Amino acid sequence: MDLFEYQARDLFESYGVPVLAGIIADTPDEVRAAAEKLGGTVVVKAQVKAGGRGKAGGVKVAHNPDDAATASEAIFGLDIKGHIVRRVMVAAGARIASEYYFSVLLDRANRSYLSLSSFEGGMEIEELAVERPEALARIEVDPMVGIDLAKATEIAIAAKFPAEIVDKVAPVFVKLYEVYKGEDATLVEVNPLVLTEEGNVVALDGKVSLDENADFRHPLHADLVDTAAEDPLEAKAKDLGLNYVKLDGAVGIIGNGAGLVMSTLDVVSYAGEEFGGVKPANFLDIGGGASAEVMANGLDVILGDPQVKSVFVNVFGGITACDAVANGIVKALEILGDAATKPLVVRLDGNKVVEGRAILQAAGNPLVTLADTMDEGATKAAELASK
Ligand SMILES: Nc1ncnc2c1ncn2[C@@H]1O[C@H](COP(=O)(O)OP(=O)(O)OP(=O)(O)O)[C@@H](O)[C@H]1O
Ligand SMILES: [Mg+2]
Repeated sequence: MDLFEYQARDLFESYGVPVLAGIIADTPDEVRAAAEKLGGTVVVKAQVKAGGRGKAGGVKVAHNPDDAATASEAIFGLDIKGHIVRRVMVAAGARIASEYYFSVLLDRANRSYLSLSSFEGGMEIEELAVERPEALARIEVDPMVGIDLAKATEIAIAAKFPAEIVDKVAPVFVKLYEVYKGEDATLVEVNPLVLTEEGNVVALDGKVSLDENADFRHPLHADLVDTAAEDPLEAKAKDLGLNYVKLDGAVGIIGNGAGLVMSTLDVVSYAGEEFGGVKPANFLDIGGGASAEVMANGLDVILGDPQVKSVFVNVFGGITACDAVANGIVKALEILGDAATKPLVVRLDGNKVVEGRAILQAAGNPLVTLADTMDEGATKAAELASK
């Protein structure tokens, strides 16, 4: 999960990373009030989860509260790389002497952590990496050791910071690593990290990505979720503990095992070509223990998608045998009652397939069609969705 700049700022502050005062605002009047509270020069900054806000007109300096409110009028509603600005942060203005760059991130390819840093910050780091790669220091960070003061000093020297600045930025690198580790982040980036004319090092802009796999260790991370931007069906599925991703097509998909569900998406897309380009409506992996409840929850989410015209249940019985899955489908349809209105194509195979098919046949629900193979099921479901 990516955080907004203001959320990163708050996290930084709680770890003792030097930041400037910042107040969030959702209207020009709130911007004026925030600027009055901060006093002096402020910077009004678009809060969107996209880079390049400055270039897009989303960062504006204002010297008094009225100017701040006026500046914000041009920022609210701005489209920055497909993200509409609904909130801004009014930040205290810094008198910048120099801009630097620092980040620490998960380096999956090398199964390690990586720190990127540069004495030449401010410009877009992707550009710097291409145009002047020698100005960007890439230092591997051993996850077992992390960034202590010695490592931070090594990083700063590699990034060509002059000696007197090394002593100022190294302790900030250590604190930023504490954020990275303490919050189970996969990225902590500061661009720019600045030296002010008063000689202080301050994180002026922060990007943080958190590892959702570690959410169980961080109950407070739930408060950081941008619920306004969440797809309502995905939010519902998440609450139910389902592995669901909304897609754009008309065939709802339920399968067990991520690999099987992925190949089901492919097979349905392929079969759909024959029926005017019918596509899958979602990814949903109900995993190993496909109980009636899990099946009911899955069907409930999928049937709640108005784009869905048919559902393809594709299950390979393993530890959870086909008879249990079949009972799950029958019970799920009972639980859903009148809420289940769309045709279901079911393909079962593997452990106890004969028993599973018998259960579905005996139940005789008119919505359910059995398919012998995955291709046949996909074709049938695509055909039903095209009607
Ligand atoms: N509080 C501040 N005081 C003074 N100048 C600021 C302040 N915040 C930002 N700036 C200036 O504006 C520039 C751009 O700001 P910032 O890095 O926050 O946005 P951005 O780089 O355009 O956005 P992104 O990082 O999303 O690409 C900074 O490099 C800095 O020169
Ligand atoms: Mg920036």
